[in-house]
Amino acid sequence: MILLAAAAGCYTGGDITPVDRSVPAQAPATGVDGTEPSPDAVTGVPCDVAEVLAKDCAGCHAATPSGGAPNAIMSWDDLASPSLTVPSSSIAEVSIARMKDAANPMPPDGASPQDLAILEKWFAAGMPKGTDVCDAKAAASVYDTPSVCSTKTSWTRGDHGSILMRPGGACTQCHDDQGRGPDYQIAGTVYATAHEPDDCNGTSSSAVKVVITDAAHKTFTVPVNAAGNFYLDPIRQKITMPYKAKVVSGAKSRAMSAAQTDGDCNKCHTEKGTKLKGSKQEAAPGRVMAP
Ligand code: HEC
Ligand code: HEC
Ligand code: HEC
Repeated sequence: MILLAAAAGCYTGGDITPVDRSVPAQAPATGVDGTEPSPDAVTGVPCDVAEVLAKDCAGCHAATPSGGAPNAIMSWDDLASPSLTVPSSSIAEVSIARMKDAANPMPPDGASPQDLAILEKWFAAGMPKGTDVCDAKAAASVYDTPSVCSTKTSWTRGDHGSILMRPGGACTQCHDDQGRGPDYQIAGTVYATAHEPDDCNGTSSSAVKVVITDAAHKTFTVPVNAAGNFYLDPIRQKITMPYKAKVVSGAKSRAMSAAQTDGDCNKCHTEKGTKLKGSKQEAAPGRVMAP
């Protein structure tokens, strides 16, 4: 504790003056590449640090803090700024101290030793900045959910051809295998949560759109139907591979960082998620999910 207090400047643990709740929330951080991060993305720090903050802290210390938290801890700048409770120390220093503070821990239900070690190591190294925007990893916690069929309704008509058929199934792969059904360049299903079984109907919200941008910079904004399925017209809407994809709903969005050459979304975005054999790519985290 003495060593720590020395390293952390003034923080001595325990007694913390009540926080002034009138302190305005800090403006949302801008990602290192200049783009707006998704609300639960931590920016400007190495990915392992971003992951810890997203998992343990962003629930309250998001760009718009909640749960009584006085400040955002979502970016390198946030971490480097002076603590509200111990102004002579940085938020990073006080964060580490609070993660170790048995009487007054952060997060309030306690941090794991592994997570603490990641932050301590980073802090000891002089708080190096990250080179990646770790949105995908920071968002990982939303994939840590049980498998459910959110709509509680499923497709029951087997291989009866329909635009509502087999939500969650790999449309084009099955059509190719069976030699029947449309040869879609882009098709898939959007779900409300990350892990939903095959044939479970996805989200039918009219606010949800899949936005596909192809290699020729052509953009297609595709609605979901009553089964949550979406697709480009296989004859009239041709795209140039590779493409980029995101799912939007109002001002919120969830984007795939990698460009893809296969538009059969559910092939990778299965109930559990997949890593394709021989691919250097990270595993798809689960279903294509509404933001
Ligand atoms: C469940 C909500 C919640 C979570 C999760 C949470 N905090 Fe907090 N945090 C608070 C609240 C409420 C306060 C203000 C009261 C206090 O200081 O105990 C606070 C205060 C703080 C402070 C003091 C602010 C300052 O400027 O000195 C720091 C630092 C902090 N939290 C860091 C963290 C870190 C780091 C994590 C994740 C490892 C985390 N918190 C997770 C709710 C939370
Ligand atoms: C397990 C296999 C399988 C999967 C998965 C599948 N289909 Fe099909 N699909 C078929 C078969 C077989 C037919 C031909 C049915 C027929 O001839 O009656 C078909 C036909 C269709 C047709 C043609 C209907 C018509 O009237 O011509 C559409 C549209 C269609 N599928 C859409 C989809 C979409 C969208 C998906 C993905 C969300 C999908 N299918 C997933 C097997 C599948
Ligand atoms: C070849 C496998 C593959 C295919 C096909 C694929 N994806 Fe992905 N997708 C991934 C992987 C891997 C990730 C996680 C890494 C990343 O974001 O690039 C991902 C991530 C995503 C994300 C972001 C998830 C998050 O919250 O971080 C969205 C949205 C998404 N994909 C949509 C789609 C859509 C829509 C299609 C079809 C038009 C599609 N994907 C086709 C592999 C695939």
